[in-house]
Amino acid sequence: MKALVAYYSETGNTEKLARAIYDAVNVEKELIPVQDVKNMAGYDIIFCGFPVHAHSVPGKALNFIKKLPAGQKVAFFSTHGSLRGGQLPKQAFEHAIGLAAKAKVLGHFGCRGKVNQTLIDALMKKPEHAAWAEEAMTAHVHPDQHDLEDSKKFAQEMIAKIR
Ligand SMILES: Cc1cc2nc3c(=O)[nH]c(=O)nc-3n(C[C@H](O)[C@H](O)[C@H](O)COP(=O)(O)O)c2cc1C
Repeated sequence: MKALVAYYSETGNTEKLARAIYDAVNVEKELIPVQDVKNMAGYDIIFCGFPVHAHSVPGKALNFIKKLPAGQKVAFFSTHGSLRGGQLPKQAFEHAIGLAAKAKVLGHFGCRGKVNQTLIDALMKKPEHAAWAEEAMTAHVHPDQHDLEDSKKFAQEMIAKIR
């Protein structure tokens, strides 16, 4: 059995999850940034991770997801500034699942990730975004050990589904 952990990460949060998932998966495996994946064929499962950008999937991850082969088993993971279980990260997963229409999505996992301070400062200046910026600030300790442990459990659950 062979797994690919493919991720897009700008400030390292999603990469931390990708590495935890890679460590937790007890099969033949590869860890590759989405933009460097040359060939998607031959994997029994592809874990695909991205940060939530503007309630959705950033471009580089989006291009990767659109190219997932028909019938490919895939598990999504993401990091996001807003609270776990909120509406914004949910929308991003829904978007990813829609893009992967021909693939077989086995599940998804998300947790919070520290938000770039420049972005928070810019949002703070706009009254319509100030409330979100305040919420985003409290993500600065994430992903933490607990999040990484949860992502490992998720990875093992996904592997169990294809055994
Ligand atoms: C341009 C931009 C847009 C973002 N939009 C959202 C958003 O809509 N919702 C959210 O919860 N977090 C948002 N975030 C926060 C990131 O999802 C979060 O910080 C993530 O952990 C970054 O992951 P990375 O370090 O792997 O790039 C945004 C961050 C950036 C830079």
